[in-house]
Amino acid sequence: MSRLGLSGARIHRAVVKTGPGCADQSILMGVLGDQVCPRVLGPIHDPVLGSGYAMEECDPVRPGEAQGLILIHMRDLLRERVWGRRARNEESAAWREELGEWLFAQGQSDLYHTLCRLDFSDARWSLIHGDPTIANAMRTAGGELRIADPLWPGGKIPSLRCVDLGKLLQSAVGWEQQLDPAYPKPAVRSALYLLDPYGQAEQHRAWFWAAVHCLRLAPYAERAGHAHLAAWGRQTAAGVADALRRRLDRRDETIVGARSS
Ligand SMILES: Nc1ncnc2c1ncn2[C@@H]1O[C@H](COP(=O)(O)OP(=O)(O)OP(=O)(O)O)[C@@H](O)[C@H]1O
Ligand SMILES: [Mg+2]
Repeated sequence: MSRLGLSGARIHRAVVKTGPGCADQSILMGVLGDQVCPRVLGPIHDPVLGSGYAMEECDPVRPGEAQGLILIHMRDLLRERVWGRRARNEESAAWREELGEWLFAQGQSDLYHTLCRLDFSDARWSLIHGDPTIANAMRTAGGELRIADPLWPGGKIPSLRCVDLGKLLQSAVGWEQQLDPAYPKPAVRSALYLLDPYGQAEQHRAWFWAAVHCLRLAPYAERAGHAHLAAWGRQTAAGVADALRRRLDRRDETIVGARSS
């Protein structure tokens, strides 16, 4: 929305984000493009606000909207505009070792063993968003979907499509409901629809990453003083990891079915 000043100048509303990592994030937003992320308007270096970037103002997706449909819409946006593009980082298996060490350091030996069992040899390397959760889903003034707050892959996080699918699943298992009880309880079906286009191996990898993402959020939540979010992250990670392990053991049980039983 813009207003006309008397001089003929136009007055625009924008959002400024400052803080650690913002410079890198704005570069990634430029790479992903303004059909995927809110449009970056330029860098900000302000003595009061700090350093970061300005972007178009969007409307966060509301708790009242159908969550399952938003997730499908997010997946399709990523399929159309992101996952078909080449990864910016080198395709290397080094992430596996880093992730394994991290899982061990977190006391997650079960998930470590699951990592060892999973086959990533035919996983899709591509550009990824890195944090496509409903909490980051926005609409432009024209009502188009955008996904804010992207994260560069690197270190223990590879530029693999299943990393993004795992983030969508984090929302499908109820992350936003933990952030704000106004969000509806997740419909377990949305996770199945989300993964529908993918084969079994990719589905397993996506669920593995969902568990890792839930674990990753715990220390952030704790640092921010939200012990209940950290507890949810650890419990959900354990539940998903357990269901995945049983699925890999070829028990006749789906991950989602196991969660809701
Ligand atoms: N372009 C935008 N227009 C309007 N609101 C925005 C915009 N970008 C972000 N927000 C609001 O600010 C919130 C936090 O933004 P963002 O997710 O970028 O920050 P963060 O601190 O990196 O988030 P996180 O909590 O995921 O770590 C968003 O959930 C959204 O409500
Ligand atoms: Mg965010």
